[in-house]
Amino acid sequence: MASKSRLVSLIPGDGIGPEVTEATIRVVDALKLGIEWEPLEAGGEVAIKYGTVIPDHVFSSVQKNGVALKGPITTPIGGGFTSANVTIRKKLGLYANLRPALSIPGLKTRYEDVDLIVVRENTEDLYSGLEHIVVPGVVESLKIITEGASLAIAKFAFEYARKNGRKMVTAVHKANIMKLSDGLFLECARRIWKDFPDIEYREIIVDNLCMQLVTDPTRFDVLLMENLYGDIISDLCAGMVGGLGVMPAANIGPGLAVFEAVHGSAPDIAGRGVANPTALMLSAVMMLKHLGHEEEGLRMERAVLGVLKEGTTVTPDMKGSASTLEFSDAVIAKL
Ligand code: NAI
Repeated sequence: MASKSRLVSLIPGDGIGPEVTEATIRVVDALKLGIEWEPLEAGGEVAIKYGTVIPDHVFSSVQKNGVALKGPITTPIGGGFTSANVTIRKKLGLYANLRPALSIPGLKTRYEDVDLIVVRENTEDLYSGLEHIVVPGVVESLKIITEGASLAIAKFAFEYARKNGRKMVTAVHKANIMKLSDGLFLECARRIWKDFPDIEYREIIVDNLCMQLVTDPTRFDVLLMENLYGDIISDLCAGMVGGLGVMPAANIGPGLAVFEAVHGSAPDIAGRGVANPTALMLSAVMMLKHLGHEEEGLRMERAVLGVLKEGTTVTPDMKGSASTLEFSDAVIAKL
């Protein structure tokens, strides 16, 4: 029915983005929920056309619709334009990056019982992009940590924990070295914890966390981090549950949510139709639940996990030989 239709901004991105996006929206469309997509161009290739990597209509569309599904966008290394992904997050105020790392039944990995939630601050830290050459041969990068952003992300992590029956929040830091910046981040986390006495709170130095995570990931629950630590540790967590091809994410801000996979544009496999769409599909599952389609989200999740568990129609990164769209067909058949 027309009254039930819901417009969602769709940013396929570049590299493997359009391939995994097509595979994902076919599954969502098969659920017949009345979701209509508003496709939007963004990335290096559109810069010539619009004079910017993210044309203004991308921001206005996401602001209007409140929800977006996004593929990865390539960022040049060492020079060129500023990351489109970082710009989208900053400009839309998407301050919280939520990355669940859950073991997938039947998927052979080093660990079987990973159940971690990475909550990453999304707008500041070393990603502020404030860099300059002091004198030739000396470069300064500014790490920005503010009380406002630190309080907001800590509140998000504790609220998420309470709402989702999680027991513990661990703040990750290097405040022994960066006493002021990481010190402020910890101080904010402790202040917010006062309102959540039902949740256990711990702190851990980031290098120790890496060692402990690969030794025994069950020691942790919700991990609260600044931007850079969150970026790195969430890839480590992805490695523990089957790789970048399977880890979903959501970027949340006031009244806005952009769902995207953790992985990048994978230029090494782009255009070959072999990318694993699982991560974007599981991001779409998060999107469906966010939109209130809890039951259909679970249905899609079960179908994706079912195909992975069977292992017969999986992509090459999972030691299979299926194409991206064959995987998508198998998921649709399971719905
Ligand atoms: P990447 O995640 O694109 O690739 C790392 C490795 O994982 C590659 O070997 C790739 O083939 C593999 N991989 C990633 N996703 C896969 C999938 N769905 N199926 C199968 N294999 C997959 O990371 P990389 O190479 O560091 O970044 C490439 C580009 O992506 C860069 O320009 C980077 O800035 C951008 N990027 C964009 C992100 C975003 O749009 N949110 C996030 C991370 C990186």
